[in-house]
Amino acid sequence: MEEKEIKERIRNGRNFMKFRAEDEYSDFMSDQQLKKPQPPLCKEKSSECVIPLSKDFDALNISKDFTTILMERKSSRVYTQHAMTLLQLSYLLYMTQGVKEIKGENYATMRTVPSGGARHGFETYLIVNHVEGLKAGRYHYLPLTHELEYLGSIKQAENIIDETLVGQKWAVKANVIFYWSFVAYRCEWRYGIYAHRPALIDAGHVGENLYLACSALGLGTCCLAAFDDHSCNETFKLDGEEEFVVYAAPVGTID
Ligand SMILES: Cc1cc2nc3c(=O)[nH]c(=O)nc-3n(C[C@H](O)[C@H](O)[C@H](O)COP(=O)(O)O)c2cc1C
Repeated sequence: MEEKEIKERIRNGRNFMKFRAEDEYSDFMSDQQLKKPQPPLCKEKSSECVIPLSKDFDALNISKDFTTILMERKSSRVYTQHAMTLLQLSYLLYMTQGVKEIKGENYATMRTVPSGGARHGFETYLIVNHVEGLKAGRYHYLPLTHELEYLGSIKQAENIIDETLVGQKWAVKANVIFYWSFVAYRCEWRYGIYAHRPALIDAGHVGENLYLACSALGLGTCCLAAFDDHSCNETFKLDGEEEFVVYAAPVGTID
C-alpha cells in the first residue's frame, strides 16, 4: 500500500471517530425526524427449529462478589474443552443482549447492555462446538423471546472458525463462538449519518458484559476485532451491506 493511501485511510479513520465535530451537517434530518416507519426491533426468526432458553440463573449458583468478577476479568485464549451447559450459554446470551422490557408500542427494547437511543443494532450469531443439549452448528439468538434458532450444521467447522477469525487457531477449541452483526438501518433510522460511531461504542458494552458474565461463571473469553468480514458474513448468510459482522468472541471452559 502506498504511503499516500495509508495517510488517507488514517485520516478517514480519525474523521469517523470525531465525526460529530463537523457542524456543516446541521441541516441533516434522520428518517425518524422525517417520520419514516421504524424498522423492527429485532430480526424475525427464519428457522422452524427453535430452542427455548431458561432464565433460572439462580441455578448457576454464582457465588463471586461483583469486585471479584471485575478483578478476575481477563482475556483467555486457552480452552480445556470441558462441558458447558445450555443454562450457562443462556446466561451469556441474556447478559449480553437479553431484553428486560419493551418500551412504547414496540418503540425500543431495554436490555442488559446500554445502547445509544436504545436502538440496539446488533444480532447475535453463534457457532456451537460443544454445549450440552445443543447439536453443533450455526445458531441465531432471538432476544425478544429468549430463544435460540438453529440455522444449520457446518461442514468442517474448524476450518470455518479458523477462516472467520483470520487464523486465530486457538479459538477452534472454544465451546461456542459469538459473532455480533450490526443491522445498520435500525440505528440509521434514528441517527442517520451519526449512527455509526455510537454503534461501535455499543459493541464495546456487549463485549464487556460477555467478559464479566464469563468471569462470573468461571469461563474464558477473548473479544476479537480481528476477523474476516467476508467469511463471517457468508457463514451466517448476511448480505454484508445492510447487516454485517462487527465483533466476535470465542467462549470456552478454562482451568
Ligand atoms: C476491541 C477489542 C479487540 C480485540 N481483538 C483481539 C483479537 O483480534 N485477537 C486477540 O487475541 N485479542 C484481542 N483482544 C484482546 C486484547 O488483546 C486484550 O483485551 C488485551 O491484551 C488486554 O488483556 P486482558 O483483556 O486480559 O486485560 C481484543 C480486545 C478488544 C477489547
